Amino acid sequence: MNNLCVLVMAAGKGTRMKSAIPKVLQPVLDRPIIDYVLDTAQSAGVNPEDTAVLAGAGGQEVEAHITKNFPSVKILWQHEQLGTGHAVKSAIDWWKNYDSLVVLNGDLPLMKPESLRELLSFSGKNDCTVITFEAENPGAYGRIIRSENKSSVSIVEYKDASPEQKLIREVNAGCYIFKVKPLLQIIDLISNDNAQKEYYITDALGLMNEKGMSTGAFILPEEEMQGVNTQAELAEVSRVKRFEILNRFMSEGVRIPDPESVYIGSNVIISRGSVIMPNVQIWGNSRIGEGSVIGSGSILTNAVIGNNVNVIAYAVIENSTLKDNTKAGPFCYIRDGSCLEEKSFAGKFVELKNSIIGEGSKVPHLSYMGDATLGHDVNIGAGSITCNYDGERKNKTLIGSNCFVGSNTMFVAPVELSDGAATAAGSVITQKVPENSLGVGRARQKNIADWSLRNHHHKTATEGEK
Ligand code: UD1
Ligand code: CA
Repeated sequence: MNNLCVLVMAAGKGTRMKSAIPKVLQPVLDRPIIDYVLDTAQSAGVNPEDTAVLAGAGGQEVEAHITKNFPSVKILWQHEQLGTGHAVKSAIDWWKNYDSLVVLNGDLPLMKPESLRELLSFSGKNDCTVITFEAENPGAYGRIIRSENKSSVSIVEYKDASPEQKLIREVNAGCYIFKVKPLLQIIDLISNDNAQKEYYITDALGLMNEKGMSTGAFILPEEEMQGVNTQAELAEVSRVKRFEILNRFMSEGVRIPDPESVYIGSNVIISRGSVIMPNVQIWGNSRIGEGSVIGSGSILTNAVIGNNVNVIAYAVIENSTLKDNTKAGPFCYIRDGSCLEEKSFAGKFVELKNSIIGEGSKVPHLSYMGDATLGHDVNIGAGSITCNYDGERKNKTLIGSNCFVGSNTMFVAPVELSDGAATAAGSVITQKVPENSLGVGRARQKNIADWSLRNHHHKTATEGEK
């Protein structure tokens, strides 16, 4: 496929979505529609350098997204949205330098790379080939008109179609491949003399037929070519995509006992032998190794989970790493670059922020570790927290190896515990605790004698006053 380019049309307003977000940036699972379209083109073997996205309505946002996520893909502009024919023409200075041009609606996230590849080889001699499908309910799709001898194809838009034409169930999917030379000869002939007063790219086929050029259709399954025009269609497409991903994982040996309740994004990687329990969501570039269990109610975003990790129920893990043989949860929040080193544990009602829990160390209950680094084999008593924020800055807490932190210790950061140090329960630690020492930072207990007798007397006195 030498000298071929792909133009993704994404300038339309997407009025029917009734949303402030441009249509192609609407999310299917955790990624915008356009990502899937660009992934398809790339997986089909199209160079990103030979791919352009046509931006228009909401174009700034589209441009920002593409620049960040697909830096090699070009952005072209259609400043006024006068229809798909006008859209293709807006990019003429770019595609006229190629031999072939694929035009893709930006709202086709379910198209498979194999199908695009097949289209490219099928289209061979045709000046234009359009992808079509037999629609269960052809709705407002453009209708495919095949000539009597079936040698050519044209398209009539729904709003311009006669009642008989509206009965046709073969429809235009919104993906075309053109030979550039013949397209250049007819593109200026596309007019807006139609029901919507728009320039239709679909008119190109009829114009080509009139000039004796060759046109054809390539039929694909409807499931793949479902476009997104409404919120309901967005939900349908998301569901199809979701099960595509879940079925792939199950076929690769990931156990998902209740796929109906599980959501996994398309960039996630999970190795065989891992188990994803009901009501789990896994997003972004999350990676899960072998033999790990992600417990019910957990939500993972950009989480790197090693082998034999047990994420007990209701863990929220973001941008963090859980190495081999670690445990987390139930009910924990691990975020912002935290790491559980091998065999370590973050338990019930524990929050870790930008903290490293060393090998074999445990933070079992009710703790907040923020900007903390723990060595190996540390035990953090229940209720201990880092006071890492002084109102201006985030400060570090350093805890060495083999430390024993008594329950309800407050680490007023910046502060340090050297190897083998301990703290007494209830201590407020404001100074470094040297190696193997015990830091005690609490008021000494004092007992007041006969308190209950006095207290009882006091109570009866006040009650008597009422
Ligand atoms: C289009 C086809 C229709 C086909 C359907 C498949 C035309 C005239 N009709 O209709 O035959 O069955 O797709 O989904 O092409 N866009 C621009 N600039 C514009 C207008 C649209 O870039 O001025 C982009 C949109 O962002 C979208 C794509 O082109 O990605 C299709 O536009 P849309 O309005 O969805 O076309 P349909 O009416 O669905
Ligand atoms: Ca459409």
